[in-house]
Amino acid sequence: MNTPPRPPSVPVRVGVIGAGLMGREVASAFGRWFALLDCPVRPELTAVCDVNASALDWFRQVPAVRHFDADHRALLARPEIDVVYVAVPHHLHESIYVDVLRAGKDLFAEKPFGIDLAAARRIRDEAARLGRFVRVSSEFPFLPGAQRAFKLAASGQLGRIIEIRAALLHSSDLDPAKPINWKRQNQYCGEAGVMNDLGLHVAHLPLRLGWKPARIHAQLQKIYRERPDGRGGIAPCDTWDNAVLHATVDIGGEPVPMSLEMKRMAPTETNTWLFEANGTDRGVRFSTKEPKTLWTYRRDREQVWARTDLGFDMVFKTTTGQIFEAGLSDVILQMWAAFLAERAGRLEGAFGCVTPDEAVASHEIWDAALASHRGKSVAPVGAA
Ligand SMILES: NC(=O)c1ccc[n+]([C@@H]2O[C@H](COP(=O)([O-])OP(=O)(O)OC[C@H]3O[C@@H](n4cnc5c(N)ncnc54)[C@H](O)[C@@H]3O)[C@@H](O)[C@H]2O)c1
Repeated sequence: MNTPPRPPSVPVRVGVIGAGLMGREVASAFGRWFALLDCPVRPELTAVCDVNASALDWFRQVPAVRHFDADHRALLARPEIDVVYVAVPHHLHESIYVDVLRAGKDLFAEKPFGIDLAAARRIRDEAARLGRFVRVSSEFPFLPGAQRAFKLAASGQLGRIIEIRAALLHSSDLDPAKPINWKRQNQYCGEAGVMNDLGLHVAHLPLRLGWKPARIHAQLQKIYRERPDGRGGIAPCDTWDNAVLHATVDIGGEPVPMSLEMKRMAPTETNTWLFEANGTDRGVRFSTKEPKTLWTYRRDREQVWARTDLGFDMVFKTTTGQIFEAGLSDVILQMWAAFLAERAGRLEGAFGCVTPDEAVASHEIWDAALASHRGKSVAPVGAA
């Protein structure tokens, strides 16, 4: 093996606001940064902030973290912080993201990038006004199967596109005894409900391929309307649980059906992300249900789906052997490598994270879906 390039001596100093589920994932990813062989940038998690003091305790085992803040303004006042990752409930996105930008820091935002379309546009516009570097989290497209599907779809080899399907499916909400949390309440999650929660993961590849829907017919479902509140009582559960969006995308001047599915109640599915695009010449399917497998179709005298076992073929090369398989923590690492490389102007054509414009476009889709459901009609995307 060749000697890997030495990592840069000066790290990018990162602060995390929101030390919950996703905040911990970031710390774990940084902890194995040395697995990356050719990433031109090295992060150091320097400061963590959470309003819940016990959430900070887990971070006390992370070697580089020097500051533990209860107020995000204290973290933002620290001059050594270059980049801030914010993973807080959706109703706080806009105010904290804008505070990050105005403090002169670059932002790695969590989806949905504001609680609604208006908030997303304000955040994007403020970032542009201040000239800050901003990207939004969506890790599934960094999986080898998703990358292969994306490249095939982008290559033009599919022929005339016949149909597209993208989805993110969960099932744990089928348990009526699962206690409510902020993601299941409109005031914290947003009126778009499951679309705010799961939607950007579903829309990322279609939008990157230029497949933004022109119009939508949406079917939104609230399945369990109340849940245990975790304190012995019952609380209203008012978010959309499942959303099926029947979209029309104009590709090459032709209307193409695209199905976008975001479900908290899809029996048997545990974080199943899938993308499928079929054309007149070729087709491609990838689902995390079969994480090593890429299915491809080629029109021939006999029509068959071929199955390819994928190795560890990552956007950024790592020490992990080519024959192994990838999982969530691997793609969080890849996504951060892409964020930091692009921020440094060193992405060099590799796949990048969701842009603010793409995040706004996703909100335009959810906004049209809400309008479609309200009016029991087909709604144009981007009309608002
Ligand atoms: N990319 C992904 O795969 C993925 C997965 C899950 C969640 N998310 C997103 O990440 C974000 C956070 O979700 P989560 O699952 O980590 O939530 P979580 O509830 O586990 O963590 C949120 C944390 O934010 C803290 N917090 C609340 N208000 C705060 C404030 N004013 N200042 C500082 N901290 C505050 C809470 O105390 C909590 O510890 C959401 O936007 C969510 O949609 C992304």
